[in-house]
Amino acid sequence: MVSSVYLFMLVHSLILLLCFHLMVTNSTSSMQPQCDDNESSALLEFKQSFVIAQHASDDPFAYPKVATWKSEEGSDCCSWDGVECNKDTGHVIGLDLGSSCLYGSINSSSTLFLLVHLQSLDLSDNDFNYSNIPSGVDQLSSLRSLNLSSSRFSGQIPSEVLALSKLVFLDLSQNQLKLQKPDLRNLVQKLIHLKNLDLSQVNISSPVPDTLANYSSLSSLFLENCGLSGEFPRDILQLPSLQFLSVRNNPDLTGYLPEFQETSPLKLLTLAGTSFSGGLPASADNLDSLNELDISSCHFTGLVSSSIGQLSQLTHLDLSSNSFGGQIPSFWANLSQLTFLEVSSNNFSGEAMDWIGKLTKLTHLGLDSINLKGEIPPFLANLTQLDYLSLEFNQLTGKIPSWVMNLTRLTSLALGYNNLHGPIPSSIFELVNLEILYLRSNDLTGILELDMLLKLKKLTRLGLSDNKLLLRTDTSSNGTGPKFKVLGLASCNLGEFPHFLRNQDELELLKLSNNKIHGKIPKWIWNIGKETLSLMDLAHNFLTGFEQPMVVLPWVSLIYLELSSNMLQGSLPVPPSSISTYFVENNRFTGKIPPLLCNLSLLHMLDLSNNTLSGMIPECLSNLSNSLSVLNL
Ligand SMILES: *[C@@H]1O[C@H](CO)[C@@H](O)[C@H](O)[C@H]1NC(C)=O
Ligand SMILES: *[C@@H]1O[C@H](CO)[C@@H](O)[C@H](O)[C@H]1NC(C)=O
Ligand SMILES: *[C@@H]1O[C@H](CO)[C@@H](O)[C@H](O)[C@H]1NC(C)=O
Ligand SMILES: *[C@@H]1O[C@H](CO)[C@@H](O)[C@H](O)[C@H]1NC(C)=O
Ligand SMILES: *[C@@H]1O[C@H](CO)[C@@H](O)[C@H](O)[C@H]1NC(C)=O
Ligand SMILES: *[C@@H]1O[C@H](CO)[C@@H](O)[C@H](O)[C@H]1NC(C)=O
Ligand SMILES: *[C@@H]1O[C@H](CO)[C@@H](O)[C@H](O)[C@H]1NC(C)=O
Ligand SMILES: *[C@@H]1O[C@H](CO)[C@@H](O)[C@H](O)[C@H]1NC(C)=O
Ligand SMILES: *[C@@H]1O[C@H](CO)[C@@H](O)[C@H](O)[C@H]1NC(C)=O
Ligand SMILES: *[C@@H]1O[C@H](CO)[C@@H](O)[C@H](O)[C@H]1NC(C)=O
Ligand SMILES: *[C@@H]1O[C@H](CO)[C@@H](O)[C@H](O)[C@H]1NC(C)=O
Ligand SMILES: *[C@@H]1O[C@H](CO)[C@@H](O)[C@H](O)[C@H]1NC(C)=O
Repeated sequence: MVSSVYLFMLVHSLILLLCFHLMVTNSTSSMQPQCDDNESSALLEFKQSFVIAQHASDDPFAYPKVATWKSEEGSDCCSWDGVECNKDTGHVIGLDLGSSCLYGSINSSSTLFLLVHLQSLDLSDNDFNYSNIPSGVDQLSSLRSLNLSSSRFSGQIPSEVLALSKLVFLDLSQNQLKLQKPDLRNLVQKLIHLKNLDLSQVNISSPVPDTLANYSSLSSLFLENCGLSGEFPRDILQLPSLQFLSVRNNPDLTGYLPEFQETSPLKLLTLAGTSFSGGLPASADNLDSLNELDISSCHFTGLVSSSIGQLSQLTHLDLSSNSFGGQIPSFWANLSQLTFLEVSSNNFSGEAMDWIGKLTKLTHLGLDSINLKGEIPPFLANLTQLDYLSLEFNQLTGKIPSWVMNLTRLTSLALGYNNLHGPIPSSIFELVNLEILYLRSNDLTGILELDMLLKLKKLTRLGLSDNKLLLRTDTSSNGTGPKFKVLGLASCNLGEFPHFLRNQDELELLKLSNNKIHGKIPKWIWNIGKETLSLMDLAHNFLTGFEQPMVVLPWVSLIYLELSSNMLQGSLPVPPSSISTYFVENNRFTGKIPPLLCNLSLLHMLDLSNNTLSGMIPECLSNLSNSLSVLNL
């Protein structure tokens, strides 16, 4: 009783307090100055200088924030979408027009630059039609935050940006910009308050100045794909506030990982696609906060330290395509939060990997090319969350275990280039989410009903080539199966073109070489992958010609075509101008070498040998001498 009275009083006084608060905030807002007429008209003129176009923004939630801006009497620009005013002065201090579907050019006469009180400007994800960043930007000298990312700016970043000395946050990423004159060193000299800097995709083409390591409060640095060179200043990695660092895709950038003495706040470290080398320091265990470590495709060597196993926050670990050796310490079983693990293409011993079975949160596991031996490891059956599993280019033996069906979430399963034998277990066909299935280059045997595979409705990439399979195709199948992008069916004992092919109009790669396909190439072949096909290999079959000959082949994206070692007759078809490799040797083509071949300016390899071609070699073939590296007549 006592307590409920007490509760009542408490609620009552809370309501009173709330009402009072509302009155106070109401009265202050009515006192708040309205936006300045000049600023209001500057905004409206700025709006008018653009077209609103949905295609100008990539964000699916993009909408034109300026659409509601009105010039009506009494319309307070401080209440407009994307506009923020100072509560005391009424000046416009913030403009957030990110993803606002703005399309058009901008220059220094833009009324945007009359908004001299701006502290924060976000124009990201619009389309400024490859304008330069206007030099008038220096009028916005109060700016602390400037985001022009993904907005189709181009050209050199003007020195006027360096006059914005209060900038704390600067994002000029994903445009077609250069930072060369002034350069990164100049920028670092001037913008000394920067905490967040993103210049990804800006063409910098220089080393990273070591003065950047003076920025003790730097918290994020993104310099992806900038053409950086030289050695990355090691001290930057030890900055006390640095949380996010990515210098991905700068192949000429060298560097080493330092010893991490202190506890470091780094959450993201991405060096992928650089020339960083050396080892993983034992002191990496000081990276307590690290969520994501990606050092793939670098030049790292040595043993991987067990200290990595102590990074309890790690969710994403990618060491692929380096030269690490030895055994991965079982201590890594402690990485219990890991969802993504890639160690492919290293010189690991591939032994004693059972600890991976404890990482039950894994969704992505890449173990290609790391000297795995023996049977497909049973611990994988534990990883039921996997959607990606790749074990290619190892020395795995034995059969494909039927428990793969337990990995029901798999969208990608790659077991190619091993020594697996026995039949493909029918349980594979229960993996209904599969989009990619690569079993190529093993010793798999048995009869495989293609129609079983066609039941995997999401399958777009299938590689069965180079096994000892007998692939049986049902001629009645009428193409209700999946649309493939990649089909590798070389050496599958096919006696004819599989019928389901005739409806494949999205094919990029088709390999049917080393089968027993006989007779003429059917005329529907011209319709498969007309726009998309880039590789076709029909070599080593018993093909005798084309049901419907064509002078110029219709696949507009074709790069690689092999028709070698058949019994093809008639005149030699000319591939499209995209072609780079054309092999037609060991056939029975007759007639002249078509002069149209001379127009194939991208042709790199051409083999016409062992046919029954006649006449003169067209003189214009010498035009191709720049591009051709192999020519066999
Ligand atoms: C508005 O602009 C006019 C002319 O550009 C200028 O004379 C005036 O001082 C400005 N007023 C304010 C409040 O900025
Ligand atoms: C974009 O630039 C092109 C080429 O400079 C020009 O023709 C076109 O009119 C511009 N579009 C807009 C909306 O400014
Ligand atoms: C700047 O752009 C405006 C339209 O937005 C145009 O009228 C003006 O001519 C341009 N000025 C220069 C110097 O290009
Ligand atoms: C800058 O804009 C881009 C695109 O809208 C966005 O992804 C990015 O997070 C923004 N940067 C910051 C730190 O707000
Ligand atoms: C970057 O700029 C340099 C020098 O201006 C130029 O040689 C190089 O081609 C540019 N790189 C890219 C990817 O545009
Ligand atoms: C900045 O760093 C350079 C080299 O790293 C050093 O020589 C210089 O004294 C530093 N400047 C400041 C202001 O700390
Ligand atoms: C890491 O794993 C080892 C054995 O695998 C265990 O002894 C140790 O307690 C674990 N450490 C942590 C921090 O979980
Ligand atoms: C790979 O490791 C083995 C020893 O495990 C060593 O003999 C070999 O030289 C290494 N290969 C490379 C390319 O580092
Ligand atoms: C499977 O995962 C459980 C934890 O979910 C773990 O206790 C067990 O040791 C794992 N088995 C294997 C073979 O790794
Ligand atoms: C696969 O799943 C079945 C049924 O859920 C289960 O009985 C079996 O033990 C699992 N196999 C493996 C190897 O985990
Ligand atoms: C052809 O496809 C339809 C579904 O569109 C299916 O019902 C029918 O059985 C198929 N016919 C043959 C012969 O496969
Ligand atoms: C030439 O091609 C025919 C098939 O058309 C083949 O039987 C023969 O072995 C080939 N000759 C040489 C020398 O490769």
